[in-house]
Amino acid sequence: MRIFIDSANIEEIKDINAMGFLAGVTTNPSLVAKEKRDYREVIREICAIVEGPISAEVIAQDYTGMMQEAEMLAGIHPNVVIKIAMTEDGLKVIRDLRQKGIKTNATLIFSATQALLAARAGASYVSPFLGRVDDTANDGLILLEDIMTIFNQFTLDTEVIAASIRHPVHVLQAARIGSHIATVPYKIIKQMIKHPLTDAGIQKFLQDWQEAFQ
Ligand code: G3P
Repeated sequence: MRIFIDSANIEEIKDINAMGFLAGVTTNPSLVAKEKRDYREVIREICAIVEGPISAEVIAQDYTGMMQEAEMLAGIHPNVVIKIAMTEDGLKVIRDLRQKGIKTNATLIFSATQALLAARAGASYVSPFLGRVDDTANDGLILLEDIMTIFNQFTLDTEVIAASIRHPVHVLQAARIGSHIATVPYKIIKQMIKHPLTDAGIQKFLQDWQEAFQ
């Protein structure tokens, strides 16, 4: 499973990218709004930092508006993937962008049948929102499992991005289930790196060394 960061914060992205495992970035309107910066500028900077797919979401929800925004965003860098919400117009946009050679990420996926339709329309990625499913007292991991079963059964080339990750166990379970990608917030990546036994082990090695040689 590849690891993306779910962030529009340049410092967070630089920090994680320097560690060598980052394979891409996803953003959404809420994440970009937190930065209070020009949208295109943020996407351009991210593309210059990370080598891999960078998802940028359209704000418009009508077909024409989505197509215009998508073409503008796709023009920023060849690695930009257009994030489109799963709606009727969204599916039309996914199909037409596919025909133009522009990659898409179908977002706000809450059912396996939505994922199947988006994949059949030509989405390069689908993003089931695990945490938001959990918030409704349903199990986001069952949704992910269903999507993986269906996609593997019919050898669809659409990749699955486990999104709305709320804790490291979501990442562990997504990898077990066979998700192609998990997009993980900065704070959770940091939690994944740390382990109290690693810290205690470093302390003990240092202490033993100092006792023997200093
Ligand atoms: O980028 C989409 C998704 O990861 C959002 O997560 O925590 O706002 O549900 P969250």
